[in-house]
Amino acid sequence: MSKVYEMNHPLIKHKLTFIRKKDTGAKEFRELVKEVSMLMAYEVTRNLSLENIEIETPITKTKSEVISGKKLGIVPILRAGLGMVEGMLNLLPAAKVGHVGLYRDPETLKPVEYYCKLPKDVEERELIVLDPMLATGGSGAAGIQFVKDRGATNIKFMCLIASPEGIEFIQKEHPDVDIYVGAIDEKLNDHAYIVPGLGDAGDRLFGTK
Ligand code: PRP
Ligand code: URA
Repeated sequence: MSKVYEMNHPLIKHKLTFIRKKDTGAKEFRELVKEVSMLMAYEVTRNLSLENIEIETPITKTKSEVISGKKLGIVPILRAGLGMVEGMLNLLPAAKVGHVGLYRDPETLKPVEYYCKLPKDVEERELIVLDPMLATGGSGAAGIQFVKDRGATNIKFMCLIASPEGIEFIQKEHPDVDIYVGAIDEKLNDHAYIVPGLGDAGDRLFGTK
């Protein structure tokens, strides 16, 4: 069974409060999503392996640690995952970025696929799939399956807000994928929106609707 890491840092909790507020406008919403993603990048990379290299300080030669050759990739699920890319790249500037296009059909609530472009060497990379919202889990699970179908084996999933149902679904479909989540909310409503949640993440990021 995969692990679930819920963030407990006060800065993340504080910023999530303002992301949730309905009167937070698109500009501030985008900035906050970027900032929370950057703070979460710190947690999601906690287990990266290190190696020693020899360097010279102004005082002496010494050995010091750097991230070892591991290649990283981030894969936002379109559209709303795009809002998380810049914050991640601020901390991981060498990561390659793939894109998976999915939207949730409002009638069936099932994910519909429309785009996929991934780095060529995806099987050699540690991939972090990004989507701010994990509601029923249909989109997240399909996004993860997309990258698995193209050879990825080392995958993490990162979201800002999740429902307990969505977490359970990802764990059932992808027991090898650890989940990093800003906050786990109470439940889904009758339209499969997260309660209390933040509403429609894509619409709030891009000012649609
Ligand atoms: C939202 C969100 C997730 C999905 C979550 O995307 O960004 O991808 O819904 O719901 P689920 O867990 O029940 O699948 P949406 O379908 O609204 O598309 P958009 O990002 O293009 O707005
Ligand atoms: N998609 C969203 O953007 N928000 C939700 O609460 C559920 C699905």
